[in-house]
Amino acid sequence: MPRLVIVSNRVGIPDGKARAGGLEVAIRSALEQMECLWFGWSGKIGPHAEAQTLTRKNVTYTTVDLEQADFDEFYNGFANSVLWPVLHYRLDLIEFTRRDQSGYFRVNEYFARQLAPLLRPDDVIWVHDYHFIPLAQALSDLGCRNRIGFFLHIPFPPPELIAALPNHERLLTQLSHYDLVGFQTERDAVNFASYFENERGALHSHPGTIVVDGREVAYGAFPVGIDVADFSQLAQKAAESDFVKEVTDSLGGRSMIIGVDRLDYSKGLPMRFDAYEMFLKNFPDWRQKITYLQITPRSRADIANYADIGRQIGQSVARINGTYGEVTWTPLRYVNRAHNRRQLAGLLKMSRIALVTPLRDGMNLVAKEFVAAQDPDDPGVLVLSRFAGAAHELRDAVLVNPYDTEGFAAAIDRALSMPLDERRGRHRALYKAVCASDSEGWAGKFLSRLNAPARNSRGDVRVVAGT
Ligand code: G6P
Repeated sequence: MPRLVIVSNRVGIPDGKARAGGLEVAIRSALEQMECLWFGWSGKIGPHAEAQTLTRKNVTYTTVDLEQADFDEFYNGFANSVLWPVLHYRLDLIEFTRRDQSGYFRVNEYFARQLAPLLRPDDVIWVHDYHFIPLAQALSDLGCRNRIGFFLHIPFPPPELIAALPNHERLLTQLSHYDLVGFQTERDAVNFASYFENERGALHSHPGTIVVDGREVAYGAFPVGIDVADFSQLAQKAAESDFVKEVTDSLGGRSMIIGVDRLDYSKGLPMRFDAYEMFLKNFPDWRQKITYLQITPRSRADIANYADIGRQIGQSVARINGTYGEVTWTPLRYVNRAHNRRQLAGLLKMSRIALVTPLRDGMNLVAKEFVAAQDPDDPGVLVLSRFAGAAHELRDAVLVNPYDTEGFAAAIDRALSMPLDERRGRHRALYKAVCASDSEGWAGKFLSRLNAPARNSRGDVRVVAGT
């Protein structure tokens, strides 16, 4: 069996530290079966030095440091101040400079140079997320001929929005150097194909394969999932932990509403807090009977848009607690500290409802984790934004439009008031949906399509080295 080489900016080094982000969660639970090399950024800033390597079970983790200019231009700059907002439909938040764009390409070339000597001829390479769109071409320029796939964890918007990206032609062409490009939902996959059709007049050689500059690129939707059985067990065990008991005691018999999101404008926290405030105003009977816990680890703190959203949220929290709080009751607990997976599993399990209401999200694994953590005999209710990728699968959640504050507030009341029979019925359907696209299935489907013999434009099987 060939080795699998994963490339992602964040690497899930098993050092017991709590981290935020769905990408690590998804990849880590998909890796259990095969020999793997997981290559990426160490999370440290320093002069370019030798790569650091650690092997645990079947996985070797190899990471490199980024220099300060790389961090500023590649990570804070082009990746998170241009690609992230554009791909989340937020053209108003783009901060583009040519310097950052050059830094982005430079760092991709650096990663390619570091990775190339580690590759074996039959390795299958799987690159993750928007940080590394140019990596396939950079590796190919160094003579790499391995099968190489790309998965985008975040949304891919319609072509009109992509066209707002300065030099989109150059960047998007780089995607055509992958053998397979995967997306979270069918809508993202369709947007990808439409971009090449509209902007480049590209044609399909057959369904799910588009021809760009003479190169055939397979593409499709591969919704990310979680290891459902593992997470349910973890939640059950965590429910017995001292941590969960302490939290339960602190609630004084009240039900808990939970939200778990990185501090990011895509997560829609100001709108969510507005809806919660309206819920407290319009449904006063619930006051003092519930407590909303929002866990929001800080993220990308050097970027001005992230600092702004942090300030805005802080003001909402103060306003809500100031207006509705009592000496003995805090309506909204807001915590910036990251919690480990076990603690989160326990908190999700004990919650009456979860608010997963991003303005735009590739998938959102917290929604799936909440479903997996519930007790099927007395399950909590998921309130989910229709703009999360997860809403394509989790149709039995209470779906909301986060921009409709009154509708959202009413949905919180509805979720809290939902009769047991309806909760059970919805949970059964949601659990089935979460199991249908678990993490193993996600990786399995992507990799078997990546390893499938490529076809040429006549539909004949083309011989590909290493397959
Ligand atoms: C999202 C992205 C990931 C990223 C994670 C955390 O899940 O899709 O690529 O790693 O956020 O963001 P950070 O900037 O801290 O790596």
